[in-house]
Amino acid sequence: MNNLTVNSIFRTMNIQKIEEEVRSSEILNHPFLIKLQSGGYDKEQIKLWVSQQFYFSNQFPRCLGALWCRISDYQISLPLMKFLAVEHWGSEETGAHWKQYRKVLDYFGLSINELKSVPAFDETKEYLDYRFNVCLNNTVEEVLGFMGFAHELVNEKIFASYYHGVKTIEGIPDSALTYFKSHIEDEPEDYQIFKNIILSFVKSDESLQLVEKGAIQTLERRIIFFDHMKNRLDNFSKYQ
Ligand SMILES: [Fe+2]
Ligand SMILES: [Fe+2]
Repeated sequence: MNNLTVNSIFRTMNIQKIEEEVRSSEILNHPFLIKLQSGGYDKEQIKLWVSQQFYFSNQFPRCLGALWCRISDYQISLPLMKFLAVEHWGSEETGAHWKQYRKVLDYFGLSINELKSVPAFDETKEYLDYRFNVCLNNTVEEVLGFMGFAHELVNEKIFASYYHGVKTIEGIPDSALTYFKSHIEDEPEDYQIFKNIILSFVKSDESLQLVEKGAIQTLERRIIFFDHMKNRLDNFSKYQ
């Protein structure tokens, strides 16, 4: 075995370690997700959380764009272009996520224009500003850690909780569930895109440690967002 092969085997093993660490994160058993998926919230409470998901979905393509422009090797960054086309709001790509999400908004009686004209909740803004700032100012490795591990890898399970939670609303049509369902299906493939980029981009242990740092720090911030969201939904009447 030559040195290159040995290095790539080590990197793959170390990536597996990060995967295990991330998969055992407390975020996957967060009280907000547990309560949501077990039917602990009614339609009005879920509507409140769904409204914030708008800002997440809207901003994610900007994060992808920020990462894309920071990778100089076009062969490494190419898969991000296709990803961006599916995630970008207004995109006409088949399976474009905003089209699916619009159906969720329709069901809850939320309008895109209204959401665009009001600010996100403080906790939403705080988390979204954090992750966008990581994309612009932290190392590319940390951005890969945020997107690959703290989003795509854990999102398969997080979206399963969302899906089961939203499904508990009596009479909800399938059209309002597709957005959540398709994320459960797409995330393993999306994660693979980032894993491949990490394998091509990351060349040293130090570099991989930055990926891990980006993953863990983002998960911590995401947990804080869920803490706030749970608090908000649990005290819903106060916000009326
Ligand atoms: Fe999406
Ligand atoms: Fe995804």
